Amino acid sequence: MTGMGANTITENSNRVQWDNQGPFWLFGYGSLIFKADFPYLEKRVAYIQGWERRFWQGSHDHRGTEEAPGRVVTLTEVDQAVCYGMAYRIVPDILEHLDYREKNGYLRFETTLVFSDHTRDRGLVYIATPDNQAFLGPATEAEIARQISRSAGPSGRNRDYLIELAAALRSISVDDAHVFEIERQCN
Ligand code: SIN
Repeated sequence: MTGMGANTITENSNRVQWDNQGPFWLFGYGSLIFKADFPYLEKRVAYIQGWERRFWQGSHDHRGTEEAPGRVVTLTEVDQAVCYGMAYRIVPDILEHLDYREKNGYLRFETTLVFSDHTRDRGLVYIATPDNQAFLGPATEAEIARQISRSAGPSGRNRDYLIELAAALRSISVDDAHVFEIERQCN
């Protein structure tokens, strides 16, 4: 391991195989909701069960630096929880771009997406689990807001990630108390 420079690209290419198949669903719950920088065939609001969105992942490469990491969202396992996001139907060629984009600690997982018409399908989701080197874990919403308000990295201000995520959630009528409280306290 080479400190925060370590990334998940190699590990992801050996994980759940999505490569040899037709189009499938990608579930986005963070920046993938408001910044879809890849082609997709279709997009639909969806939710997954058993996971909660939390600003618990450090960002050393996008919204912070090695010395002063920002905070971005990951998912944490919570029984009965529901996490809403955006599902994109993509072809396997997009995986290389996604693995690169999510390389700071996010691993590919398979999950079940539920759509508003109650239909379900399997899909791919990127989750940064507590054992990754960039994981920061829980903090109060006030502490998280303070950290976000002073962080910035190559992808821009950490604050803009928060504000854009909150706006995107509102635009699909998702109420997320954690995200909205941090937004309220971040000035
Ligand atoms: C996601 O959006 O689904 C993953 C986390 C992120 O890139 O912000």
